[in-house]
Amino acid sequence: MEKYFHGFLCIIIITFSLIHFVQAQDQEGFITLDCGLLPDGSPYTNPSTGLVFTSDSSFIESGQNSRISKDFERIFEKPFLTLRYFPDGERNCYNLKVTQGTNYLIRASFLYGNYDGSNTVPNFDIFVGPNKWTTLNLNATGGGMHEEMIHMSRSSSLNVCLVKTGSTTPMISTLELRPLRSDIYVSAIGSSLHLRLRSYISDSGLFLRYPDDIYDRRWFPFSDKEYTVVTTTLSVNTTNGYDPPQGAMASAVTHVNDNGTLKFPWNLTDSTTRFHIYLHFAELQTLLANETREFNVLLNGNIFYGPFSPRKLSIETMITKPESTLTCEGGNCLLQLVKTAKSTLPPLINALELFDVVEFPQSETNQYEVNAIKKIQTAYGLSRISWQGDPCVPTQFLWAGLKCSNTDNSSTPPTITFLNLSSSGLTGIVASSIQNLTHLEELDLSNNYLEGAVPEFLADIKSLLIINLSGNNLSGQVPQKLQQKKGLKLNVEGNSKLLCSEGSCSNKAGEGGHPKKNIIVPVVASVSLMVVLIAGLVLFFVLKKKNSSRSKEEGRTGRTSEPPRITKKKRFTYAEVTEMTNNFERVLGKGGFGIVYHGYVNGTEQVAVKVLSQASTHGHKQFKAEVELLLRVHHKNLVSLVGYCEKGKELALVYEYMANGDLKEFLSEKRGESVLRWGTRLQIALEAAQGLEYLHKGCRPPIVHRDVKTANILLDEHFQAKLADFGLSRSFLNEGESHVSTVVAGTIGYLDPEYYNTSWLTEKSDVYSFGVVLLEIITNQPVIDQTRERSYIAEWVRLMVTNGDIRKIVDLSLNGDYHSDSVWKFVELAMTCVNDSSTTRPTMSQVVIELTECIKSENSRGGTSQSMVSKSSREVTMTFDTNVNPMAR
Ligand SMILES: *[C@@H]1O[C@H](CO)[C@@H](O)[C@H](O)[C@H]1NC(C)=O
Ligand SMILES: *[C@@H]1O[C@H](CO)[C@@H](O)[C@H](O)[C@H]1NC(C)=O
Ligand SMILES: *[C@@H]1O[C@H](CO)[C@@H](O)[C@H](O)[C@H]1NC(C)=O
Ligand SMILES: *[C@@H]1O[C@H](CO)[C@@H](O)[C@H](O)[C@H]1NC(C)=O
Ligand SMILES: *[C@@H]1O[C@H](CO)[C@@H](O)[C@H](O)[C@H]1NC(C)=O
Ligand SMILES: *[C@@H]1O[C@H](CO)[C@@H](O)[C@H](O)[C@H]1NC(C)=O
Ligand SMILES: *[C@@H]1O[C@H](CO)[C@@H](O)[C@H](O)[C@H]1NC(C)=O
Ligand SMILES: *[C@@H]1O[C@H](CO)[C@@H](O)[C@H](O)[C@H]1NC(C)=O
Ligand SMILES: *[C@@H]1O[C@H](CO)[C@@H](O)[C@H](O)[C@H]1NC(C)=O
Repeated sequence: MEKYFHGFLCIIIITFSLIHFVQAQDQEGFITLDCGLLPDGSPYTNPSTGLVFTSDSSFIESGQNSRISKDFERIFEKPFLTLRYFPDGERNCYNLKVTQGTNYLIRASFLYGNYDGSNTVPNFDIFVGPNKWTTLNLNATGGGMHEEMIHMSRSSSLNVCLVKTGSTTPMISTLELRPLRSDIYVSAIGSSLHLRLRSYISDSGLFLRYPDDIYDRRWFPFSDKEYTVVTTTLSVNTTNGYDPPQGAMASAVTHVNDNGTLKFPWNLTDSTTRFHIYLHFAELQTLLANETREFNVLLNGNIFYGPFSPRKLSIETMITKPESTLTCEGGNCLLQLVKTAKSTLPPLINALELFDVVEFPQSETNQYEVNAIKKIQTAYGLSRISWQGDPCVPTQFLWAGLKCSNTDNSSTPPTITFLNLSSSGLTGIVASSIQNLTHLEELDLSNNYLEGAVPEFLADIKSLLIINLSGNNLSGQVPQKLQQKKGLKLNVEGNSKLLCSEGSCSNKAGEGGHPKKNIIVPVVASVSLMVVLIAGLVLFFVLKKKNSSRSKEEGRTGRTSEPPRITKKKRFTYAEVTEMTNNFERVLGKGGFGIVYHGYVNGTEQVAVKVLSQASTHGHKQFKAEVELLLRVHHKNLVSLVGYCEKGKELALVYEYMANGDLKEFLSEKRGESVLRWGTRLQIALEAAQGLEYLHKGCRPPIVHRDVKTANILLDEHFQAKLADFGLSRSFLNEGESHVSTVVAGTIGYLDPEYYNTSWLTEKSDVYSFGVVLLEIITNQPVIDQTRERSYIAEWVRLMVTNGDIRKIVDLSLNGDYHSDSVWKFVELAMTCVNDSSTTRPTMSQVVIELTECIKSENSRGGTSQSMVSKSSREVTMTFDTNVNPMAR
């Protein structure tokens, strides 16, 4: 019972309790930066959203401006064309003025676009204040992504920092802040919400953001062919504080399977991830007097909220309480809407959002002192590359010349205890803001050009023990208060105009044998006095006791122990893997997450064994995903799994052997074999297309491959083509990871340009990538080649087609041995696939039909262009398939 209530209490329903809020329909409070934009082009209005972008130049002092490669320019919206990159310094920070205590939606986007011509996609970290937000692996995404979080700023300035983590150069394209009301998307103190997914149910294909959404959230339409989508043309009252766009609430799913359960499964790559969910409901149908819609909301089989009946045309939002910690055992999550017994109608949902909780434990440096040190920086015009972001934390980015206390107790704001501006070329007077560094123990301003008096306020800084003002041009009298301060060590050597009271200066000077110098070294107290007790610690926030609440949660979310499906497959021991590969003797290649070896099963049957490199934990997840997908999916044009090995950290996948390697190698003639003839190429294209079509149409939910490229099209001994590398494929909620943030597959040049604008990959994104593959097949040219008239293959072919130079497109090594009809058709097809707009691209089924037509017209030519291999040898064998259903779920 207790468990039940714990679950129940995680959720609260928001109806109309929050309506006393004046909605800002304009862009008031929005910060919308186009990074790298020159100030003279600023501001401008982006036509697609009406958002007004400004240059980032007044929000950051470091970095340089650049533009993405011309090849990609035409494809992207203006904000993505320019960027700022950071060749210098470890940490570079934007400093944004915000309203203290306000919740902000922070969105940053990154489009590499080969701006530096090096084709090296960077990887780096992004921080908000002193806390790490996330690692950006642009390398894994084809060079572009968006990240979004909801964060409450505890001070009136917010730092967003890019942190170099390897040899590559951090860069950024846009940075956007949207103030939210502070009673929505509330997270526990010391944490923020990182967006994983925000979708609404619709088959419209319309992506919603500002101005449809007053907060400029981005909503992705989602539908499944099992769904019954209901829509309304009536207005839905969406006013409950969360205020999703009208468009997002005006459609919903009422999925009807046998017993009326709507399921939303998703997998977390890290099973300790805590998350929050927000579910938006509004009844869209008119219920008859004898009809009821009532359902329970279950998370991992436990009642989460219910019974519940959505209100007619009026929003209600189910939210996770800020302090609740939702986790899923083993990282497998399942949200279910289950119809109650008395309900006559299936459940319904309009929109949902999913956030991961990111811990932001590190408290920012004492705001009062941050303001003081910034004033000091301004007063002296100091520009130091390290003087960006938080002065004290994280400690590896401590500002040069500073020391701080409390940096090891993250819940206490650090304070500045030491300031060394020795030999920094300081001019003018001793900055008055120093008096606001109230925890200062040591101050070194020696060897500068400071003038004027030694200020008395130095004596008021209670903790101050050492002051070094030597080697300046200070004048006047050293204040008595300072001279008399107990325990203070003051050095004013080398200030010729400085006078000391009571003659003590001159006495000392005389003794030192330097008549020009005035020295005061008053009362040096016992060493014990040097130990300072820091007073006035401010407790900014208390960290939640994660462990206790988490273990409770885990108890609650216990899942039925269904045996893993994997046991049905052939499982090898590590010893067997060692044996089958003859101790990893022959390397076939190197994949994303490990090395692929050649091997034999049963002594004769050849296999390819992919061994996961132990270093990569990320790879581990990827690897499991791959196993799961391969087990679900069987098709003659998809590389099939023979077995696997899992023993602790040792992981290996055993695939059928593909004797002729990958298409990329083959086209590039690395293998030194004869040229693939046109007929064979057509056949390979068709087979790869069929594999992809199966993923899109034959699987439920559809699988988006996400990394279609020639290197992932493998050829067996009969040149039968099979698609490989499903490790990065995802479906629905998992896909969410990529919709908005982290793990997106894709390779630059192959990646759907629409993705960059919407950060949303669909089946049509695979179609785009496939179009690029088709272009490579016909041209046998690299996807990106700086020496070509247009370096990006799609742009180059477009230019050639426009000029009517189709012969120039076709691979010369084909020696004209092809039917021009089939070639034309093929190029035409490829070009429709690489259409910028996904809606005008064909589906894979259409691609399959078109390719079949190409083959027909090629064959009609007869004689000369037979494939390298005869059709009869192209039979398929699926040796190891056991009792796995042929149709994926
Ligand atoms: C990026 O990916 C490519 C190919 O996947 C790899 O060769 C390269 O080393 C990666 N670069 C970084 C910085 O991870
Ligand atoms: C929405 O519902 C609330 C509460 O019933 C009401 O105060 C508000 O006026 C409604 N808004 C519209 C546009 O009907
Ligand atoms: C609905 O049906 C599925 C199998 O079709 C079953 O596993 C599940 O328990 C059923 N749910 C309810 C609430 O009856
Ligand atoms: C999540 O992982 C489980 C196995 O751990 C798998 O059966 C399931 O299909 C995965 N779900 C999704 C949505 O990928
Ligand atoms: C509800 O009543 C209508 C007629 O008013 C009838 O057609 C329908 O079958 C009834 N539905 C149920 C679930 O009883
Ligand atoms: C951190 O500071 C808080 C409040 O000042 C204190 O309660 C806590 O014990 C400190 N933790 C550590 C590890 O010093
Ligand atoms: C201050 O920094 C300078 C170098 O910039 C160094 O020589 C000096 O020793 C430092 N002062 C103290 C007290 O550490
Ligand atoms: C010290 O801090 C207070 C409060 O922030 C501020 O009003 C004052 O101007 C500061 N003094 C100096 C000299 O910067
Ligand atoms: C003060 O600075 C000078 C020059 O940097 C140095 O020689 C001297 O040792 C310093 N004195 C103290 C007390 O740190």
